[in-house]
Amino acid sequence: MPTTEPVRWGVVATGAIARAFSRDLLVTPGAELVAVGSRRPEVAAAFAREHARDGAVPRSYGSYEELVADPEVEIVYVATPHALHLDNARLALEAGKHVLCEKPLTVSAGDAETLVALAAERGRFLMEAMWTATHPLVRGLLAGLREGRFGTPRQVHADLGFRVDADPSSRMLDPVLGAGALLDMGVYPLTFAHLVLGEAEELTAVGDVRSAPGGTFDMDVAIAGRYAGGAVAAMTASMSSWSPGSATVATDLGRIDVDVVFRPTRITFTPHGGAPTAVESTEPVVGEGYGNEILEAVRCVRGGLLESPLVPHAQTLTILRQMDEVRRQLGIVHPVG
Ligand SMILES: NC(=O)c1ccc[n+]([C@@H]2O[C@H](COP(=O)([O-])OP(=O)(O)OC[C@H]3O[C@@H](n4cnc5c(N)ncnc54)[C@H](OP(=O)(O)O)[C@@H]3O)[C@@H](O)[C@H]2O)c1
Repeated sequence: MPTTEPVRWGVVATGAIARAFSRDLLVTPGAELVAVGSRRPEVAAAFAREHARDGAVPRSYGSYEELVADPEVEIVYVATPHALHLDNARLALEAGKHVLCEKPLTVSAGDAETLVALAAERGRFLMEAMWTATHPLVRGLLAGLREGRFGTPRQVHADLGFRVDADPSSRMLDPVLGAGALLDMGVYPLTFAHLVLGEAEELTAVGDVRSAPGGTFDMDVAIAGRYAGGAVAAMTASMSSWSPGSATVATDLGRIDVDVVFRPTRITFTPHGGAPTAVESTEPVVGEGYGNEILEAVRCVRGGLLESPLVPHAQTLTILRQMDEVRRQLGIVHPVG
């Protein structure tokens, strides 16, 4: 029976993105943060106090197991390093919870297939937190493309990168935790090109691959893709440089500019020989934009959907298969996935 009660969220982990996401959770209609789990009870308790709303402090747990056992929690948001997503999401699904899991859903397509099958078996909603696909400006762009307002896309350039000055044990640099520019950042240019051009027919990658204890990872990667009808894409990701982080789509009528590929603040269409016009959002941006993916998950859970039409399982699996292929071409070895 559909209900208008707020969807009750539990958050797994207390790192950087758990914090940003939870801030948006507090301002998103139809969502309530009821509990947080951390490996460290005192950190969970501090996180809970920081995310109190109207004097109500979420419950805090010193383990993920206790968090998923909380009967009030309906959906678990997983915000741990990549290599732990499989175990953490599985834990939540086996406890009967719906799951929104950070990108990439898992390190490999095979692991993601395991989660998709488990979610189906348990009748639970599962979504990769690919917030770009739920962003109102990206949705506005895709709607305009579908309606033919910007012409036919022929070329996509998409990039994401920033210089990572982290300890070698950090999740960005440790292969055991799923390190690398491809998995952390490259997932966005690949997804953006997929949203605009459809499924790639062929991908070729080059990269700067580094060795580290436990395996290898890519510091920088460049991927060339061919898509239906001969459209092409050039996609890059970097952990060594302040790369542009933007995207352009060239069409037979003009050019689309996206200022930030994963979280645009402005998208314009410039017809050849004309002036730029702003692409319209489909709805207001909620919080930093995580609110829109929260709204999507809430809509799906309350509507009884097991997957989001904006981030369908097939799309997540396609992008993971592409990343498997890129890792194969680059010779990247992760000990998991
Ligand atoms: N959507 C976005 O915009 C966005 C942005 C950044 C990151 N992400 C994604 O979010 C996920 C987490 O990234 P993050 O930047 O938040 O990472 P982070 O700051 O390093 O936090 C990761 C958290 O995971 C928990 N954890 C459990 N086992 C761990 C281990 N062995 N080593 C390190 N941490 C461990 C820790 O929380 P406890 O100690 O509390 O258990 C830690 O605080 C990744 O999948 C990343 O790709 C998404």
